[in-house]
Amino acid sequence: MATVRASIHGQWSTRLAFILAATGSAVGLGNIWKFPYIAGENGGGAFVLVYLGCIAIIGIPIMMSEVMLGRRGRQSPINTMHTLASEENVSPHWKWLGWAGVVSGFLILSYYSVIAGWALAYVFRTGSGLITGQTADGIQSIFSDLVSDPERLLAWHTIFMVMTMTVVARGVRSGLERAVRLLMPALFVLLIVLVGYAWNTGSFDQGVDFLFTPDFSKIDADGVLTAMGHAFFTLSLGMGAIMVYGSYLPDNVSIAKTSIAVSAMDTLVALLAGMAIFPIVFANGLEPGAGPGLIFQTLPIAFGHMDYGAFFGMLFFILLVFAAWTSAISLIEPAVAWLVENRGMNRVFASAVAGLATWLFGLLTVFSFNIWADVKLLSGIKVFQDSTIFDLLDYLTANIMLPLGGLLIAVFAVWQMSRNSSVDELSMGDGFFYKIWRFLVKYITPVAVFIVFLNAVGIIDLNG
Ligand code: TRP
Repeated sequence: MATVRASIHGQWSTRLAFILAATGSAVGLGNIWKFPYIAGENGGGAFVLVYLGCIAIIGIPIMMSEVMLGRRGRQSPINTMHTLASEENVSPHWKWLGWAGVVSGFLILSYYSVIAGWALAYVFRTGSGLITGQTADGIQSIFSDLVSDPERLLAWHTIFMVMTMTVVARGVRSGLERAVRLLMPALFVLLIVLVGYAWNTGSFDQGVDFLFTPDFSKIDADGVLTAMGHAFFTLSLGMGAIMVYGSYLPDNVSIAKTSIAVSAMDTLVALLAGMAIFPIVFANGLEPGAGPGLIFQTLPIAFGHMDYGAFFGMLFFILLVFAAWTSAISLIEPAVAWLVENRGMNRVFASAVAGLATWLFGLLTVFSFNIWADVKLLSGIKVFQDSTIFDLLDYLTANIMLPLGGLLIAVFAVWQMSRNSSVDELSMGDGFFYKIWRFLVKYITPVAVFIVFLNAVGIIDLNG
């Protein structure tokens, strides 16, 4: 028998609405901005292979667990964990897992919004024709002009935060659902157009080779950790975003099928982005390990040289902004849902409070690219010697907090929750597929996360 609890925040209208919203959360800057640049920094093929492996054996089972917990608890992650822990007669301290998620989401959004601001800025830089006909050098200096100016970054960050909090304030149904329906398919089509352009650069084979031919000498333990962390980041796992979306999921929907569909679409978008970007990188003699500016220094070259490039470029960055927007709302939704449930705020006020705090914290990232570019807080540790505050925030959240959150979600779902409860909530019976899920979440996920952590810590110590 399914639980009869209902969410006070409403419910998705249909199964498709949930798939769209979860895909909207998953597909974002992580796929188009972050995946290519970290793949580039970590040598390509081997990194991509580890990342794909992590999606399949860690990401999908954890996504199912997270949706399952959310739907069963039907509240913000904090209260969901609290309720489920008491229902399963285990420690009430599990609610801290919900709290950790709220903090991760807050930290991630604080820098996510700054990068989304870059995408916003590029809507105008491409649309105005500024990039038309530019050389790779010209494109590069347009990028450094932008990020070296704290005022401009601050302005775009502010605009993006206001956009995000406006949607969140309007609530689940009217706000979150509508945005995704048209924009996701449009982004997809445009990426395919870009891959088509990359096909003609003459370096398509080299790009594809870089992405898909593994050379394991190019990846170290820290690279493996980055790949695993990115699997969590790109699927929006480990901090309660997918849990809170699951709490709005109608009872009769298959959690397994939807999780697989969402993960597959997310992965496809990332691979398409890589296939669009790396051929351009090689055709123009650029550096695959250029870092966070990679897409902003490569794709505009393509737009600058294709017919109607200003138009397509503008369209691309508009769609990227939308992808980031539908992700950003899920990063802050757990915090807002909690403020509404436990602090008696209405959604609008709760959104304003959460948004303002995130905006303020985002200043750390804004300054990381200019006035504080030389502030290296952990320069004494080898892997962090060149890390700005932004780099550290990204490392802390994606490589540590999300995998740890995911690990604990896995532990709760199979070691704390009774088998009956998960069989009931996943509603796919107690057969083969259930057993695979249970095995992966019970043994493989915790052990894999643990080993990857240990290795990375070893590296940090060894070189420290
Ligand atoms: N998955 C999004 C992306 O790839 C970012 C994101 C949204 C996220 N919600 C999240 C990351 C929750 C971690 C946790 O851009």
